[in-house]
Amino acid sequence: ALISLRQMLDHAAEYGYGVPAFNVNNLEQTRAIMEAARETNSPVIMQASAGARKYAGAPFLRHMILAAIEEFPEIPVVMHQDHGTSPAICQRSMQLGFSSVMMDGSLLEDGKTPAEYDYNVDVTRKVVDMAHSCGVSVEGELGCLGSLETGQAGEEDGVGAEGTLSHEQMLTDPEEAADFVAKTGVDALAIACGTSHGAYKFTRPPTGDILAIDRIKAIHARIPGTHLVMHGSSSVPQDWLAIINEYGGEIPETYGVPVEQIAEGIKHGVRKVNIDTDLRLASTGAIRRFMAQNPSEFDPRKYLKETITEMKAICVARYEAFGTAGNA
Ligand code: G3H
Ligand code: 13P
Ligand code: NA
Ligand code: ZN
Repeated sequence: ALISLRQMLDHAAEYGYGVPAFNVNNLEQTRAIMEAARETNSPVIMQASAGARKYAGAPFLRHMILAAIEEFPEIPVVMHQDHGTSPAICQRSMQLGFSSVMMDGSLLEDGKTPAEYDYNVDVTRKVVDMAHSCGVSVEGELGCLGSLETGQAGEEDGVGAEGTLSHEQMLTDPEEAADFVAKTGVDALAIACGTSHGAYKFTRPPTGDILAIDRIKAIHARIPGTHLVMHGSSSVPQDWLAIINEYGGEIPETYGVPVEQIAEGIKHGVRKVNIDTDLRLASTGAIRRFMAQNPSEFDPRKYLKETITEMKAICVARYEAFGTAGNA
């Protein structure tokens, strides 16, 4: 059944677990997520980015998620719009039937320029007013994703801030978070703690100076009733990097967010954990390997099936590690 983000995260908070929010662009991702959820009895958040809407088209994404709900009726599903850059974009998603939207007012409408605090409060409040009048949930964001190692927003694929950010911009302030939640009424708050989108988060396995789980603890201590969201939460599995590179890929050394660190965040109020890159890496690795090992095959279902299998394995692992399993 389709439910709102608020309903799902209230349950997650009560029982102390987190829910991975996987980005979806195609049928294979959708099937992998749902089959993993069925196998582990987990609730599901599927989210569509602006890039996904551009790739597949909003109606296709919507109907794909509705098809998933039809085929897996026992699984609660949130249909979430990821990183909306304006109230108008969020309004359009509500009209399409999304049960949750993210108004990312940490950036201006260009999706790149860091915004003033008052602007963020203003646009987010507008979206909350619209959304709550029709039972839709809202995720806001305070702070900018970026690398505490380099000071760069560090987004290689065009999602998120551009250029250089200050240390303060990349770490959400607990006091400001309390004010933001009080002024906007958001159902969930995305915070910045040193993670960034994409595969290139850290040049070494992250330690507390570059991945500030302590900041999450401080925010949760200040606003214990608020559901926190961690963006840029892919773990960038080293085994998938090795497979991609073994079969002709060229991905330089890089590190993601260790699953144990996410689990630590979940102990301190993180309820929604955004993951896209890990499924991209697994499907690319699966295809490269299949193509290399089966040079005479040309039926796309053969290699796409491999992507479902491998993405599903990652989803199962995250559902188990985040305590999502058993809570559908
Ligand atoms: O928000 C970041 C996600 O990884 C989505 O990226 O816009 O390339 O689909 P995308
Ligand atoms: P990753 O790039 O780490 O998978 O993060 C995805 C994300 O935050 C989508 O909003
Ligand atoms: Na989101
Ligand atoms: Zn994000």
